[in-house]
Amino acid sequence: MELKVEKENDIQSWEEVVLIYNSALKEVGTKLEILNDEFQHVHQYNPIEHIKSRIKTPQSIVKKLKKNHYESTIANMVEHVNDIAGIRVICSFISDIYRIAEMLIKQNDIRVISVKDYIQNPKPSGYKSYHLLITIPIFLSDRIVDTKVEIQIRTVAMDFWASLEHKIHYKFEGNVPEHIKKELIECANMVSNLDSKMLSLNKEVQKLADQAAEEKEKAAENGQTSLPGTRSAVV
Ligand code: GTP
Ligand code: MG
Repeated sequence: MELKVEKENDIQSWEEVVLIYNSALKEVGTKLEILNDEFQHVHQYNPIEHIKSRIKTPQSIVKKLKKNHYESTIANMVEHVNDIAGIRVICSFISDIYRIAEMLIKQNDIRVISVKDYIQNPKPSGYKSYHLLITIPIFLSDRIVDTKVEIQIRTVAMDFWASLEHKIHYKFEGNVPEHIKKELIECANMVSNLDSKMLSLNKEVQKLADQAAEEKEKAAENGQTSLPGTRSAVV
């Protein structure tokens, strides 16, 4: 007998919520690790610095439901709270963000619900990040549950900014003084400059390394002694 595909709203208890969303985090986490390993194998380079994942606490789920005027039920939780399972992928370079997102979206068990590109369109706060809301099928003994996962992909520098801004926001309970807001926007611009500079610097180094490797190969073909060694991949 085939397993029936269910929507998340078949989930009955908090324990089941934790089980299913934890499984979804494991599935997506493994997919990301595989992509990172494959990249290392093919290009001798890791696009992912690290991955953090978390299940939203029952308290903050209830808070979000209240804020949006929903009753605190399991059905409302799974239907209206999109970030019960959240995974954050930290990359070195902006180009890695789009590479990772594209490779993940292509996989045919992943369904994309929404894409928010806060890198192309930063938030008024200065926040930058690439957000994907997806579903992934979780195979249980008697059914398959399509489960939502919020994926935030950002650079190390964007992550540094976002965690500081989050702390400041928390400290002032949302009422951040104007001059601090302004300074945060300035910092966000500095982060963007740093990210583009690091990206072009890396490209330049990569180009030089490739040229050196090519010359070394040519020299070897001509039977000459090899040039001083240059690594073919950076980072
Ligand atoms: P939430 O109700 O906050 O989840 O926002 P949303 O449903 O409108 O989704 P959005 O994609 O805008 O934001 C989702 C998550 O991105 C938030 O929960 C934060 O983790 C992060 N985020 C969004 N905006 C900001 C920001 O201005 N500063 C920081 N530090 N994080 C942000
Ligand atoms: Mg959130």
